[in-house]
Amino acid sequence: MSVLIKGGRVVTATDAFVADVLIDGETIARIGTSLDADAELVLDAAGKLVLPGAVDPHTHLDMPFGGTVTVDDVTSGHAAAAFGGTTCHVDFVIQPPGESFGAALEAWHAKRDGKALIDNGFHMAVTDLHTGGSLEELATLPDQGVTSYKLFMAYKGALMVDDETLFRTMQVAAQTGALVMVHAENGDAIDVLVKEALAAGNTAPVWHARTRPPELEGEATNRAIQLARIAGAPLYVVHVSCRESVDPIARARRKGWAVWGETCTQYFFVDETFLERPEFEGAKYVYTPPPRAKANQDVLWEAVRTDVLSAISTDHCAFLWDGQKTMGRDDFSRIPNGGPGLEDRLRMIHHFGVNEGRITLNRMVDLLCTTPARLFGLYPRKGTIAPGCDADLVIFDPERRTTITAASQHSRSDYNLYEGTEVVGDVETVLIRGTVVVDGGELRVEPGFGRFVERARFGEQLL
Ligand code: URP
Ligand code: ZN
Ligand code: ZN
Repeated sequence: MSVLIKGGRVVTATDAFVADVLIDGETIARIGTSLDADAELVLDAAGKLVLPGAVDPHTHLDMPFGGTVTVDDVTSGHAAAAFGGTTCHVDFVIQPPGESFGAALEAWHAKRDGKALIDNGFHMAVTDLHTGGSLEELATLPDQGVTSYKLFMAYKGALMVDDETLFRTMQVAAQTGALVMVHAENGDAIDVLVKEALAAGNTAPVWHARTRPPELEGEATNRAIQLARIAGAPLYVVHVSCRESVDPIARARRKGWAVWGETCTQYFFVDETFLERPEFEGAKYVYTPPPRAKANQDVLWEAVRTDVLSAISTDHCAFLWDGQKTMGRDDFSRIPNGGPGLEDRLRMIHHFGVNEGRITLNRMVDLLCTTPARLFGLYPRKGTIAPGCDADLVIFDPERRTTITAASQHSRSDYNLYEGTEVVGDVETVLIRGTVVVDGGELRVEPGFGRFVERARFGEQLL
C-alpha cells in the first residue's frame, strides 16, 4: 500500500520543514515538496505536525508485581500507547528468581503473541545469578535481540540484586554490547526506614516518600556509575526523579563517561504533596522513586533541556486504585508501586514543555523518539523520519484542545495521574509501518498487528 501525507510540518530531532511524505509499503520512500504520486491513500496534514512515532523505553505490561499483576495487558497497554502517539516500546521481562532467562523470555513472548497492536522489544531484568540464570546464558540474550540488561537496586526481598550481581552483569554487558539499566535506590537503607516507619504506626501513603529520601537515589546512582566505569559497561539510569540523582549523572556526562539518564512524565507534574490526598487518594501516586519536593521539577526540566537527561519515558505500570492500590490501606508498603501514563506523555510534554517554552519541538522529538531509539538499538528504523525508515508517524494537531481524563483513556486503570488537565495539541492519526493504526479516534488494527523487534547492540544501527 502507498500513502502520501501532504503538506504537514515534518519535525525531527534536528529539522522542521513543510513537506510531503510518501510511504511505499512499510517504509518511507521519499520526502519532498509537491510530491505527485498515485498513492492509494492521501492524508491531508496541512497545519499539522508530522512527528516520528514516539518510542517508550520503559513500560511494565502484564507484569506480576507487589502481590498482584499490572492491570494493562499487551493489548490494552498498546491501545493506550497508540492513541498517545507511541508506536514502539521496550517492556521489561522479569526473570523470576530461580528461573532461567530463556524461560522468562518465553513467558513474555507468550504474553504478546497475537495480542500486540504496536511494535515492541524486550529488556531483561536480571534478578538472580545464583540459582537461576547464569552469566553464560545472559551473554546469549543479545543474539535474540534483547540488548539491554536491567537491574533493580531496590525492592529488597523481591527484585533487588546485590552489588556482586550488578557488577557481574555489567562485566557481561561490556563483553556482549548490551546496555545496562539501573533502578537506582539504596534498597537496604530503604528497607530499614520502612520497617521503622511501620513499627512507629506510620502507615499512610505519604510514608512511601518519607522512607525513600532523595539521598538514597543519589547514592545508588553514583554507585552504579562508578561500578559501570570499572566494568567498562554503558549505563542508563531509569526514572531519575531528583537533584541528588541528576548531579552525579551531570558530572559523569561532563567527563565523557558512557552514562545516560531518563526521567518520566510524572516527575514534572506530580509532587510529594499528592501523596497526602485524603480518602486514600494519595495511593494513586505511590510509584518508585516517589513524587519529590516540587523544586525538583525545575531541576528536571533544565536537565532534559541541556541533555543531562536524554530521554523521557512513562514507566507505565498501571494498577486499579479500587482493588489493587487499596491492598495497602493499612500499610503503605503493601500498595503496589506504579502508575499509568502510556497515553499521556506526548500531549503533556508537548503542552507543558513546548507550548510553555521549556524545550523546543526538536528537543521534544529527541527526548521522546530519537534518543530512546538510538540508545536501545532501534535507530534509524524507528525514532526519526527519513527515506528507508519504518513509516511510524504521528499526525499531530498542535491547536486542538483536550482534557485528560480517566474516562476517555484506553488504559484499564481507573484513574489518571493528570485528571482534568487541559492541554493544547493532540494526536490525530498514527501510522505504524505504513498502516493507519489510529485515525479519528478509532483503532484500525487488530491484535497481532504489532511486531517483536530484535534490537541492535548498543552503538550499532538496525538498518
Ligand atoms: O513504581 C514503579 N516505578 N513501578 C514499576 C517498577 C519500577 O521500579 O520501575
Ligand atoms: Zn524502577
Ligand atoms: Zn519501571
